[in-house]
Amino acid sequence: TVHTDGRFKIKGATEAQQREVDAMVAKFSLPDNKLKEIISTFRGKMRRGLESDGQQLKMIPAYITERPTGKETGSFFAIDLGGTNLRVLRVNLLGNSKVEIEHQKFSLTDEAKSHTLFDFVAEKIGDFLESKGMLPGKDDKAIPMGFTFSYPVLQTSLASGKLMHWTKGITAPGCVGKDVVRLLHDALLRRHIRVDIVALLNDTVGTLLASAYMHPGSQIGVIFGTGTNAAYYESIRNVEKWKKEAKEPVNDSGEMIINMEWGAFDSGYDVLPVTMHDLKLNRKSPNPDQQGYEKMISGMYLGEIVRNALLHMVDQRLVFGGRSSEILNEAWSIDTMYLTEAMCDTTEDLSNVSEIIEKTLGVPGSTIVDRQIFQALSIMVCDRASRLSGVGLVSTLLQRPELLDKPVMIGADGSMYEYLPGFEELVYDTISKFLTPEQFKNVELTLAKDCSSIGSAIAAMLYSENH
Ligand code: GLC
Repeated sequence: TVHTDGRFKIKGATEAQQREVDAMVAKFSLPDNKLKEIISTFRGKMRRGLESDGQQLKMIPAYITERPTGKETGSFFAIDLGGTNLRVLRVNLLGNSKVEIEHQKFSLTDEAKSHTLFDFVAEKIGDFLESKGMLPGKDDKAIPMGFTFSYPVLQTSLASGKLMHWTKGITAPGCVGKDVVRLLHDALLRRHIRVDIVALLNDTVGTLLASAYMHPGSQIGVIFGTGTNAAYYESIRNVEKWKKEAKEPVNDSGEMIINMEWGAFDSGYDVLPVTMHDLKLNRKSPNPDQQGYEKMISGMYLGEIVRNALLHMVDQRLVFGGRSSEILNEAWSIDTMYLTEAMCDTTEDLSNVSEIIEKTLGVPGSTIVDRQIFQALSIMVCDRASRLSGVGLVSTLLQRPELLDKPVMIGADGSMYEYLPGFEELVYDTISKFLTPEQFKNVELTLAKDCSSIGSAIAAMLYSENH
């Protein structure tokens, strides 16, 4: 049997309960040979994405070939539209690798997510500028802004790109296939707000740029949050599709930031260790058969995987005495935050878990066995997510092994990276298995807090200086 470290030995469990928990452990665990197979598939798909369009890993050129030095100065505006929040900000680049920001944060309303997204964004930009007394009048020059947009966009220039499809639960109509900068400009025009978007960036690209401003060895920007994705500096020599499509001869000695859109990896579940609980989630999600990797890793989904696994045990009368609740029956009702809380509960009777089960899931009177089971499921699902997160990073590092001779900094942001217990440790552990010890000691992950937004201001700066 599997409970190697005793974590999944449920005290007081019946044989049937323990048997089911063990079966779950087996389904959610990731032995090294499985990791190896996933990494090798991942690397193959990265290469294919660099060769031609229309591949599963989109490997999108971000039209950014420069690196900030950290010495640049100035004040720039930026907008950052993420999966959960919108932020509008003014960023002061101080020139000593440091920045100051003033910002306002707005949660995306359900109405914005499903209908009026760009109008919502335009309205909030107006509110922010007004609150700073900076709303341009009719005869003033438009304010240049960088725009971080964390959805898959096929970039057509630094400041334009078409939305390929929505991810992370957004369903606003009339956007797919359109230039998102155009959509925002139109919404701004409708409100007579004079703002000019001068750079469009994925959040991972922003994270990488800002991380490069702060730490010279930065090579990768990664988000482990509501969704997941990474961007890295690739040698133009390796970007076959870019060279083929270029109208002028390209100098291939340089570098280009690539937005991988890695959340789409293995959306057909050919190699990921998929369980019936993942399949059920996929089927009921707003984007079935897309973002396979993201659905096993990111904050939007982990609670739902646990809910499916719990219901599976409820139906066999192995947990909660076979009782469910209205809340538990409802899709997406367990926020990933509660898994984190459950994992951290070290009280003897798991009183925090008990409260989550009663208040959040609406199931009163849990037994100590029920609580242990909820905690165990949370750990299994989250540990698998952490290990799989390492897979993307190690595949990306191995794509440019020449860089591993020197210190490599990875700027990382997002709620999973920041708050999931044991996340970073498992990511490092996974990376260490597939690099030499010399390479591994050069790799460092660092929290790139707010960097997706800051990077957008940096792009606005790089762009306005060079054009
Ligand atoms: C989703 C989006 C991607 C973004 C990531 C992290 O995967 O498709 O563009 O970078 O979430 O926010």
